[in-house]
Amino acid sequence: MDRDILVRDVGPRDGLQLVKSVLPTEMKLAWIKADIAAGVPEIECCSFVPPHVIAQFGDAVDVATQASALGGAVMSALTPNLKGAQIGFQTGVPKINYVMSVSETHNQQNVRRTREQSLDGFRAIIAERNATVPDVKIGIGLATALGCTLEGNVPEQATLDLLEKVLEAGADEVMLPDTVGYAHPSQVRSLFKAGIAMAGDVPVWSHFHDTRGLGLANALAALEAGCIRFDASLAGLGGCPFAPGATGNIVLEDLVFMLESEGLSTGIDLEALRPAREIVEQALPDEPKYGQILRAGLPKGYTPASHAA
Ligand code: COA
Ligand code: ZN
Repeated sequence: MDRDILVRDVGPRDGLQLVKSVLPTEMKLAWIKADIAAGVPEIECCSFVPPHVIAQFGDAVDVATQASALGGAVMSALTPNLKGAQIGFQTGVPKINYVMSVSETHNQQNVRRTREQSLDGFRAIIAERNATVPDVKIGIGLATALGCTLEGNVPEQATLDLLEKVLEAGADEVMLPDTVGYAHPSQVRSLFKAGIAMAGDVPVWSHFHDTRGLGLANALAALEAGCIRFDASLAGLGGCPFAPGATGNIVLEDLVFMLESEGLSTGIDLEALRPAREIVEQALPDEPKYGQILRAGLPKGYTPASHAA
């Protein structure tokens, strides 16, 4: 299907990180299948982290293996270290996203190592991928790229300097997340213009959290800067457990509504997302769920840019 924009549901990963109750594997897979049925082109399905760090992902191998075999959408999974990547390489997941932070303090809190050590870890993952599973894509998310609750302002140049290093290391894709919802639109426009120019042919993903209410405004700013890849989370779940005050990602449904209303096809059928949202609502009754469009209903006469095939 031709799509102008790629929207990835990071809900089964980012969305579940802060959720205390462990969602059964079948529920995660039902969510992923419902996403695929609605036309979501890519899903971050789990995280390869030690269960003592985040118990939610104790079933990551099962989820990644089964989700990757479904077809119909690209699966990706997060890892903070080489060990997680090695586990992931065994599952058949076609894309692994490494995470490190622009903020030294957040990097140490999140992955318990310095940025230099994290960079070495990234290079080691690329080398091992090249030697063992050359078809697997390795992305990297530069957490706190737009601000940090521990260090405060993160200068654009600091993010660009790290971006240059990870591109040199051979990243297949990069993400510039606003981990804690500190960014504002002109800051986003500036970083994405510079970042996309620097990355050249390497895809750049945006990843916004709506902690301070500017999530969709920031997404629009990234779009204006040339970004065509957006992370979002069904029902706006999400947040980094090692970033104080973190809350959910931008709401996938509302993002799709904005993009489609702007005449940009996402390939996602909004009404068909309802069953996916219902799975999440039933599975996580105690979690706050966000999003306006599916509550309010589509506008009368609404014509999406994507027409379901
Ligand atoms: N998957 C499974 N087990 C792992 C693992 C992984 N990815 N990485 C390490 N382990 C195991 C080690 O084998 C070791 O086990 P052992 O005690 O039985 O020998 C144990 O976990 C500790 O390993 P170590 O390398 O010392 O890890 P650490 O305690 O220094 O923690 C991280 C480092 C990166 C694993 C941890 O900080 C982490 O998982 N951070 C991720 C945070 C996150 O997901 N944030 C949200 C996304 S932004
Ligand atoms: Zn996030």
